[in-house]
Amino acid sequence: MNRIEGETMMNAIKIGVCGVGRIGAHHCRQFTQEAANYRYELVALCDADPKRLHEMASEFGAEPYADFADFLENPEMELVIIATRSLDHAVNAQQALAAGKKVLLEKPIGVTAADYELLQELDRDYPGKLFFMHNLRFQPAFMNMQEILASGLLGKVQVVKLCKHHGFMRRNDWQMRLDCGGGQLSVWGPHLIDQALQLMGAPVENVWSDLQRVLTPGDADDQVKIILSATNGMVVDIEISNSVALVSPYYTVYGDRGSLCCDQDQKVIQLRYLDPSFTWPEAKAEAGSPVANGYGAADPELPWIEETRKVTPETSPWDQVEIEIATHLYQTLRHDLPFPIKNADALEVFRITEVVKKQNSQFKWVG
Ligand SMILES: NC(=O)c1ccc[n+]([C@@H]2O[C@H](COP(=O)([O-])OP(=O)(O)OC[C@H]3O[C@@H](n4cnc5c(N)ncnc54)[C@H](O)[C@@H]3O)[C@@H](O)[C@H]2O)c1
Repeated sequence: MNRIEGETMMNAIKIGVCGVGRIGAHHCRQFTQEAANYRYELVALCDADPKRLHEMASEFGAEPYADFADFLENPEMELVIIATRSLDHAVNAQQALAAGKKVLLEKPIGVTAADYELLQELDRDYPGKLFFMHNLRFQPAFMNMQEILASGLLGKVQVVKLCKHHGFMRRNDWQMRLDCGGGQLSVWGPHLIDQALQLMGAPVENVWSDLQRVLTPGDADDQVKIILSATNGMVVDIEISNSVALVSPYYTVYGDRGSLCCDQDQKVIQLRYLDPSFTWPEAKAEAGSPVANGYGAADPELPWIEETRKVTPETSPWDQVEIEIATHLYQTLRHDLPFPIKNADALEVFRITEVVKKQNSQFKWVG
């Protein structure tokens, strides 16, 4: 049962996870499960919470460590997944790399300007050892949408809206405190900015943003609006909010031959596009007034096609992104294939985040 096509567990990557909270525990389960083809063996765990640490260590039969420096001395561990609190990410990555480990670093990959500098140095100093967890670009709906856009069905895309609406909620954990490195810019911002960069396929030229604290009892941003424009003219409108009572779709795309949208549950993609065989007849705008009962349309009848496509695979997006990351990372570490999340892309996400912070100096950003 432990056989991977043409390979054996002998070739498995021995991993340790630091920070086995909400997402760290998920990484432990997902990286070692059958769907990831047993490519990883969990040998060490580290957490500051002793109860959590020992529960997880006994579930996985991994060595527990309360101290990060001791954890890094585990001789078996080849790769460290860092899923501690955001403010510790960049420094934890530096310590693990210096200890000779490879690192898969959670988002946000850093929080402060000093983290940004440090990660650029680490990227230069440890080629092929540092990997970033921009996992939501592997959400099935996002990948299905990219395929549709690449097929040209919607024509040239001019505007994309990426919208994470958490409904209406007063989130109250550390992620809503600026002194802990929280705020939705840090929590969901990296996911949506990364997706935006993937869709734009050209350098970002302009960044406009407006951040607010609306409902949270914390002091961090719980409503984020960022508009990015690229050198190719594409505009991406990003919204993250914890204060929307009537939620919008997660993805909306406008192309010059049609549109698509996908709701927050990401189960289906709705499409409305012009029949691919249709070509626009010649038309010109007249200088006269519009007709009495409305506006003159050059093309009153258009050959629309409407479709609802099921998002595939139908697995949970949260599980699927883990399988994709685990599979790609294995191919990179064992078969020398390029890791699809380029470090330059992740550092560009961080750069844009820094621009947004400067534009929103009403918040007392940490660092
Ligand atoms: N990629 C994703 O989809 C995704 C999803 C959720 C969270 N995250 C990120 O993962 C990080 C953790 O988020 P979470 O929701 O799991 O938080 P969490 O608070 O549930 O987990 C953090 C864990 O780290 C432990 N910890 C804190 N300081 C430590 C230290 N010095 N040494 C060892 N362990 C320490 C805590 O005890 C806790 O168990 C955050 O940066 C968050 O932004 C990413």
